[in-house]
Amino acid sequence: MNTLSINNLNLTYKNGFQAIDNISLEINNGMFGLLGPNGAGKSSLMKTIVGLQKPSSGSIVFNNVDIIKNPEFIKQNLGFLPQDFGVYPKISAYDLLEHIAILKGITDRSNRKKQILDLLEKVNLLDFQKKEVHTFSGGMKQRFGVAQALLGNPKIIIVDEPTAGLDPEERNRFNILLNDISQDIIVILSTHLVEDVRNLCSEIAIMNQGKILRKGEPKLLMAELEHKIWSRSIDNNDLENFYAHYEVISRQLIERNHQITIFSEEAPEDFKPVNPLLEHFYFYTLTQKP
Ligand SMILES: Nc1ncnc2c1ncn2[C@@H]1O[C@H](COP(=O)(O)OP(=O)(O)OP(=O)(O)O)[C@@H](O)[C@H]1O
Ligand SMILES: [Mg+2]
Repeated sequence: MNTLSINNLNLTYKNGFQAIDNISLEINNGMFGLLGPNGAGKSSLMKTIVGLQKPSSGSIVFNNVDIIKNPEFIKQNLGFLPQDFGVYPKISAYDLLEHIAILKGITDRSNRKKQILDLLEKVNLLDFQKKEVHTFSGGMKQRFGVAQALLGNPKIIIVDEPTAGLDPEERNRFNILLNDISQDIIVILSTHLVEDVRNLCSEIAIMNQGKILRKGEPKLLMAELEHKIWSRSIDNNDLENFYAHYEVISRQLIERNHQITIFSEEAPEDFKPVNPLLEHFYFYTLTQKP
């Protein structure tokens, strides 16, 4: 079993902006979902865990080793798929993996070749190994990104918004791949796609403004909202009125009608009860005043 333990972590950027505000988390094998809106601090947290930036205070311990003091330890055990991979050089998928493998210290030639071919097969890119990565589709690039993250058999992999921009089929394929690899290692996934997290992650944390607002098992979190979520369709002109009188957690257009979903301990008049979804819990958490 692998354990990542984050304690009272803070990060203030040079311009004075505090992107991580006293975060503590303990993460074990399996898939951990970090949910939060744009600017919540997800990438800041991930880049700090992988050692690309140093926190202002606090500790990060991986398998009992302080990785802020020993960044080499996490580098040997880690795979990272950043939110923006940057520009791909004009070389083939195979050659790029080989290059990254050498950087990761996989020096034995035959072992390296075997690992690369195994990974290309795992991410379903074996037939494209001679194609240049910059010509790949978005989904193929993401799967290539997973292959490079898995080089060197890491014990922890961190993927930052990996399914943004993928079509539903590619997204599904990508999620299955992540699920497969999360059996024996830690996979930390950041996203604002609540649905992905609901189906994949055994544990989640909701982050906003640098803070972890809530964490836990999706099923247990959703259970907190049992019999407290209600919805109805309304006239657009009444929107303001409903916002003034109810704890509105979301509104949607359903078949061109405005539908609002609210939180209420008691049954409100003219609303229908709704089975709570993780999405409701997410929006409910984000609307709570600190
Ligand atoms: N190098 C930096 N210097 C100063 N502020 C930064 C820096 N990087 C990020 N920030 C700020 O920190 C906050 C958190 O940014 P971050 O990229 O971590 O959010 P995020 O949750 O990953 O958002 P997104 O979903 O859009 O990727 C933002 O307000 C951002 O402007
Ligand atoms: Mg980000």
